[in-house]
Amino acid sequence: MTKKNKKSSVLKGPRLPAPDTSRHLLGIADLPKARIEFLLDAARALRLSMEAGQVPPLLQGKTIVNLFYENSTRTRMSFEVAVRRLGGSLLNFAAGGSSVQKGETLLDTAKNILALSAHGLVIRHASSGSPGFLARHVSIPVINAGDGFHEHPTQALLDAFTIREKLGALAGKRVLILGDIAHSRVARSNIHLLRKMGAKVAVCGPPTLLPPNVGALKCERAFRPEELLPRADVVMALRIQFERQNFARQVPSKSEYASIWGLSAARGKLLKKDAILLHPGPINRGLEIDPQVADGPHSLVLDQVSNGVAVRMAVLASLVNPDGLHTFLTTKKRSPKDKR
Ligand code: NCD
Repeated sequence: MTKKNKKSSVLKGPRLPAPDTSRHLLGIADLPKARIEFLLDAARALRLSMEAGQVPPLLQGKTIVNLFYENSTRTRMSFEVAVRRLGGSLLNFAAGGSSVQKGETLLDTAKNILALSAHGLVIRHASSGSPGFLARHVSIPVINAGDGFHEHPTQALLDAFTIREKLGALAGKRVLILGDIAHSRVARSNIHLLRKMGAKVAVCGPPTLLPPNVGALKCERAFRPEELLPRADVVMALRIQFERQNFARQVPSKSEYASIWGLSAARGKLLKKDAILLHPGPINRGLEIDPQVADGPHSLVLDQVSNGVAVRMAVLASLVNPDGLHTFLTTKKRSPKDKR
């Protein structure tokens, strides 16, 4: 096959230009460190403005669409609260009960929603890469709220925000990510973000639940949680992604998983006094984590949920009204709490 033929191969299809990643939030892999810092600082400023009851109406007159093809409690509601706090209006789309059931494609659904004059699109989908696909076709910012195994960038940003609020800078912090790494978009986005910010990341889980190219993650690897729990500044426990695998083929049984890999009460006692525990939710109590640990003194699970609103406000404003956000950040009264 000549070079020319290769390009027009039917199998490959036409090559579309890559989406402009500065106009969207598709993942953390493409996000420069300076942009991550900017978003975390903007989230902090917006949180302080919420605490002071003076939230800038940065999304006034703007409509954001929540396009959720997968179940969600926290993420969908968090985007919803973020849009409303900034004075925007929201269109909530759930695939169940929509024309998706009649066979409408993702692109057709998105184009029809755009015809309703939206200014931003938040999408969660089981197919990795679907936010990137939409970003190539629509003229408004696309925000990835979780795509398959791939990325969940706003979760990683809110996790980073939570760590920074509690422990200060991320650089040098030891973070242990525990559980089903292979199927977790949360793990993937966090590994990208934490490594960019200079944290020391380690992963631990059953070999069958680590990605086949685990070396490419460039993280330390522990064979048992006990090896790294006593040294970790942050432990991030993950939910087993039952919906993305045949679990029975990966691990002999749930009880075996809990006894070897779960964050049991006994393992919880191995944590350093000031170590923090994160979990993106929803939690499988008694499986990946014991209720005593999930609700114990190290746990910041509910802080993560609260922090998610400020982070998503920053992300939405930065993409849908960047000038407004810039004006807010540069003209608001400076407070010593503003920067970390
Ligand atoms: C995560 C997700 O959807 O990837 N949930 C969330 O957004 N808080 C984690 C999970 O479902 O396990």
